[in-house]
Amino acid sequence: SIPSAVKIVEVGPRDGLQNEKEFVSTAVKIELVNRLAAAGFRNVESASFVSPKWVPQMADGAEVMNGIERRAGTIYSVLTPNLKGFEGALAARAGEIVIFGAASEAFSQKNINCSIAESIARFEPVVAAAKEHGLRVRGSVSCSLGCPYQGEVPVASVVDVVERFAALGCDEIDIADTIGVGTPKRTREVFSAVTQAFPRERLSGHFHDTYGQALANIYAALLEGIEIFHASVAGLGGCPYAKGATGNVATEDVLYLMNGLGIETGIDLDQVVAIGDFISTSIGRPNVSRAGKALLAK
Ligand code: HMG
Ligand code: MG
Repeated sequence: SIPSAVKIVEVGPRDGLQNEKEFVSTAVKIELVNRLAAAGFRNVESASFVSPKWVPQMADGAEVMNGIERRAGTIYSVLTPNLKGFEGALAARAGEIVIFGAASEAFSQKNINCSIAESIARFEPVVAAAKEHGLRVRGSVSCSLGCPYQGEVPVASVVDVVERFAALGCDEIDIADTIGVGTPKRTREVFSAVTQAFPRERLSGHFHDTYGQALANIYAALLEGIEIFHASVAGLGGCPYAKGATGNVATEDVLYLMNGLGIETGIDLDQVVAIGDFISTSIGRPNVSRAGKALLAK
């Protein structure tokens, strides 16, 4: 049976904005995070503490984290590729850090400039420091359903990274379809395998929607008992390493799906639709949420 409640992690402020060429003002980023938290998200991925040379859009992470209102019970997460990033996250009072590794060697090189094994070694002191300071740790496994360079990614490679993240002490692990190539059959195979390696209730689905499969994949993951999903308001985003890749699945569409299935999310869809309109207008991008557009037209 499918879960009766799920946690939706809103990743728009980070995954959705990180590839915007034009710098999005810190004030807009802060308003986005604040409005999302007010709409009921218990976890908002708010910034990255990565090299500004690699991802210039996220260079104001400290200012964003400093400017937001903190709601009790809301976790504000940030990406940290190394100890330097962790120090920034700690100073910024992040509630959760996100380490990210790939199930594909080629992608690891392009995204974080090192091999999978090297990346795990680099994350070790980061996770240890986070634990010491009582921060939650999430591990994100990129290219779990396919890679722009090597194409097919064996299920065993995904399980291998999940096991390494589990051994490091991750509290939650994301199975990410970075370039949105996955289909429901593969999604079930991957989740069926990773739930043998890590507790099901602490695994999440992070789907990009390039091939229009994200909602179907979420349903497939629900059938495997997965209770945590990532989404980006207005479907913001794209991937610089994969031509034509689109953003995360749109949050409004995921909420519409969950509402239809009678699955509790604790999030107000109408508020999220308004936030989707706000951010699309602010950055001059079309709103690609189907449910968002339909509800705005009403
Ligand atoms: P590098 O160039 O190999 O490392 O980058 P480095 O240690 O030589 O550092 C280069 C420069 O960056 C140095 O500055 C460092 O100080 C600085 P310089 O001395 O030249 O002036 N630096 C930093 N600055 C601020 N904060 C830091 C930091 N670290 C180094 N934390 C590195 C290696 C990992 C740093 C780099 O490759 C990087 O930052 N990569 C981040 C890539 C990224 O953010 N990708 C997008 C997020 S992942 C994602 O979107 C996937 C996900 O959504 C799931 C999915 O869909 O798959 C999560
Ligand atoms: Mg992503």
